[in-house]
Amino acid sequence: MPAIFTARDLPALRKAAYPYLKKKRVKHVQGCEKEAYAIALKYGADPIQASVAAILHDITKALDLSNQLILCSRYGIICDDIEKNSASLLHSKTGACRARELFDIDQTVFDAIWWHTTGRPDMSLMEKVIYLADYIEPTRDFEGIEKLRTAVYQDIDSAMALGLKMSMEDVEQRGFPLHRNTADAFEYYKEYLN
Ligand SMILES: [Fe+2]
Ligand SMILES: [Fe+2]
Repeated sequence: MPAIFTARDLPALRKAAYPYLKKKRVKHVQGCEKEAYAIALKYGADPIQASVAAILHDITKALDLSNQLILCSRYGIICDDIEKNSASLLHSKTGACRARELFDIDQTVFDAIWWHTTGRPDMSLMEKVIYLADYIEPTRDFEGIEKLRTAVYQDIDSAMALGLKMSMEDVEQRGFPLHRNTADAFEYYKEYLN
């Protein structure tokens, strides 16, 4: 049975998780936890499980590509060609597996971590909470963020559409290959765009 976390477990969880992060990422994870709690409350997701997912979502982000690939083979994660060359894409999958191994998270939290970078079509509420909290937490600053922040607290699906669109534009601008899951997710959510 996976661990059931309560509010009382969160301080110990933070203490155990933060050492896996680069120092500069701690503030992001703290911001993400706050935001995930608030979004979860707004939409009726469990705010404690959202906090757990946020605390753990970037637990393998500090690892470079070769270490990401080592974790992939250890956990049996099958990578496609784009993922094989992207530590940034892999950290969500390796992070979910590592978090389960270390902290015995349940499937809802696991999936929220697993999908937090690309998104996917028809996401669970917890997956949307973490995807968006990661995107708009208070330390984030980029063009259009205020519009996205407003959307998140108005309509979670139109926020997903907007977030995915912005993410696709960002990937294109940086000259990275677009992962299919993101394109498929946008296809799914674009009808909510307003
Ligand atoms: Fe991440
Ligand atoms: Fe993150």
